[in-house]
Amino acid sequence: MPASIKGTLLLDENHPSLKKAANIINRGGLVAFPTETVYGLGAAATDPEAVNRIYEAKGRPADNPLIVHVSDPAQLKTVARDLPEKAFKLTERFWPGPLSLVLPRAEGLPALVSAGLPSVAVRMPDHRTALELIRLSGVPIAAPSANRSGKPSPTTYRHVLEDLTGRIEAVIKSAPCSVGVESTVLDLTGETPLILRPGGVSREELEETLGCRVAVAGLKSFPGKPLSPGMKYRHYSPRAALILVAGHPEKRFALVKALAYRYRSLGLKVGYLNPSIRDDLKQKVDPERLAATLYELMRRMDQQEIDIILAEEIEITGIGLAVMNRLKKAATRTLRVGSGKLQRKS
Ligand code: TXA
Ligand code: MG
Repeated sequence: MPASIKGTLLLDENHPSLKKAANIINRGGLVAFPTETVYGLGAAATDPEAVNRIYEAKGRPADNPLIVHVSDPAQLKTVARDLPEKAFKLTERFWPGPLSLVLPRAEGLPALVSAGLPSVAVRMPDHRTALELIRLSGVPIAAPSANRSGKPSPTTYRHVLEDLTGRIEAVIKSAPCSVGVESTVLDLTGETPLILRPGGVSREELEETLGCRVAVAGLKSFPGKPLSPGMKYRHYSPRAALILVAGHPEKRFALVKALAYRYRSLGLKVGYLNPSIRDDLKQKVDPERLAATLYELMRRMDQQEIDIILAEEIEITGIGLAVMNRLKKAATRTLRVGSGKLQRKS
């Protein structure tokens, strides 16, 4: 008998356990499963009642659409229609992988999956367990990140248990997610491909594959475009106040030290987010490592009841764009050190 906590089964990644997980999905239940990005909270995408339970378990606003996960590029045709040439180029290059494509929704798919939008986001995760679960279930699996709405996304099964024990049927135990930030959400329904949420696949890689410009919603270079529905919520946030320090690296570091000193002298508990600040200024921040540990660090600092998290900006190339996007969303304040002057941004 697998272990269970308050009615939530803890399953292994072996075949019989995954069969059990697939049966739960087929009976309209909820199973949290690992992917290369973050843990997903899965239900049969074809079953509107099961999909509705995802929104309830997470406490997710009803206007925030889910991502549909497939086990094979060919399955894309069952959930989306009118696929443009670009979609084929991208799936060939990046699937399985951390890229969700927003395409016109197939008629047979329940509207609730995409919160009533005419489009649907689809991806094929690069994780053996996730792929086997989808295959064994025989249906595409709708899955948002497996956290309570407003909490940082889960990158370990323990994070899932912290948030959802007793609210879902099962969690599959696996190693921590390797990418650590969510997939890139790319809208292919307009003229220009548009990144609605930066993630595991970089803008540079997308542009190289498509041979055209890829826009990023919310960046100054592409004003006026709405972000993906989910991005308007205060997401990805720890409980502590997060102060993001931007500007010249050495001046940044001096300000971080000064802020830490000031807050500590007020009796507050201070935590550092970026390894460069925690270790040594000379050590270059490895953006991949920061991405992989970002949510774990935020959750750990909350457990340690840290009051103020100090973070430094990183370059917005490669995965850095996704990390900075999450840091800006989590930040309660951004301070920019320029030429000797301190500018408060919010
Ligand atoms: O890496 C990931 O994407 C993870 C794993 C589990 O696959 N999933 C994930 O799902 O992060 P979630 O629900 O936490 O984020 C989905 C994002 C939201 O910002 C949502 O608004 C956007 O994708 N999205 C989903 N469908 C959309 C659509 N049809 N149009 C625009 N944005 C959409
Ligand atoms: Mg999420």
